[in-house]
Amino acid sequence: MIDPWDVEEVDYERLTEEFGIRPIDEEVRELLPRSFPLLDRGIVFGHRDYDSFLKDYNDGELVSVLSGMMPSGRMHLGHKTVVDQLVFYQQEMDVKVYVPIADLEAHHARDMDLDRAHRIAVEEYVLNYAALGLDLDPDRCEVYLQSERKTVQRMALLLAGRLTWNTVKNTYGFTGETNMGHAFAPIVQAADILHPQEIEGPHRVLVPVGVDQDPHLRLTRDIAEKEDLIKPASTYHRFMTGLTGGKMSSSKPNTAIFLTDDPETAKEKVWNAKTGGGATLEEHREHGGNPDECVVYELMVYHLADRIGGDEKLREIRKKCREGDIICGECKRMVGEALAEMLEELERRREEVRDELPDLLSQHPDAPEVPEDW
Ligand code: TRP
Ligand code: SF4
Repeated sequence: MIDPWDVEEVDYERLTEEFGIRPIDEEVRELLPRSFPLLDRGIVFGHRDYDSFLKDYNDGELVSVLSGMMPSGRMHLGHKTVVDQLVFYQQEMDVKVYVPIADLEAHHARDMDLDRAHRIAVEEYVLNYAALGLDLDPDRCEVYLQSERKTVQRMALLLAGRLTWNTVKNTYGFTGETNMGHAFAPIVQAADILHPQEIEGPHRVLVPVGVDQDPHLRLTRDIAEKEDLIKPASTYHRFMTGLTGGKMSSSKPNTAIFLTDDPETAKEKVWNAKTGGGATLEEHREHGGNPDECVVYELMVYHLADRIGGDEKLREIRKKCREGDIICGECKRMVGEALAEMLEELERRREEVRDELPDLLSQHPDAPEVPEDW
């Protein structure tokens, strides 16, 4: 069982073997109209029906992309992976993007006050989405609250009839103590995913998410079949390792780089991060390090490759690391600099879009407004 509300370590191999998530192979990648670094670098590693989505796109059929956000804490680099994908589909492939804000889920599953969820959604998430390059023009993107969008709510209430309590209970491990709001969250999410077909007619919707969300997709695909709708496609990306080696988590600031961290703080976090280097310098020089066990290397692959010299540079660092020809201090300095640069740029972009945001959001009928003290 995968529990979307309590993710432990993920065994990606097993996922593809046991749950029917298909690996992203050369055949799939060839369908892409242009290169997609997140896929090429193996960060997006698996999918369901992604090939069908791409074929429909290549045939000029209507397709859209949808991925929700849970406004429950600060946005960190792990969240950025999703946004980078949304931006790719919107900017490079001109596909419309839907962004549900899962305020109801945050409320029922995370005990979050709704007003606070709306504030976090705007200040922390939507602002950063825009700063990362998502165009909020309502023709190209729809941002909405689960608690506001009628179509989603009506669909959720209707689709609920397609699921038995046993299915939901077994899929998520719910018990008699689970509150009904939480138990209903997967149905609201299914409605999120299926509602673009209600608005625009039947078409393939792609949902890029972390693997923890796959149970929701399996249920949604079953429901779609029963409703004679087109099954959503999905892609799955790897989670970033936390800086200290475990999970990257908003509630543990030392494990994550937040998009609003100031550059110096971020550098310090990188300096203290877990690497795959040898126990001592001599050992490292002699036996080399292991980039696959190294969070600093992971930061390069996920978010900084283009700033430090692209795939060629990544390969070079891998090789040098293995042979002990580069030491962790050098990597950390380089990653710290690149990261600081990225965060500074992001801060500048946030300030640029901040003024436009109230007007942009007002064009999205079901989106939260900016807080009064904006
Ligand atoms: N459950 C998702 C999360 O925890 C948020 C979400 C809500 C979502 N609706 C969605 C994700 C639809 C993908 C598609 O982050
Ligand atoms: Fe990681 Fe670089 Fe150290 Fe290798 S040398 S373990 S890549 S920090």
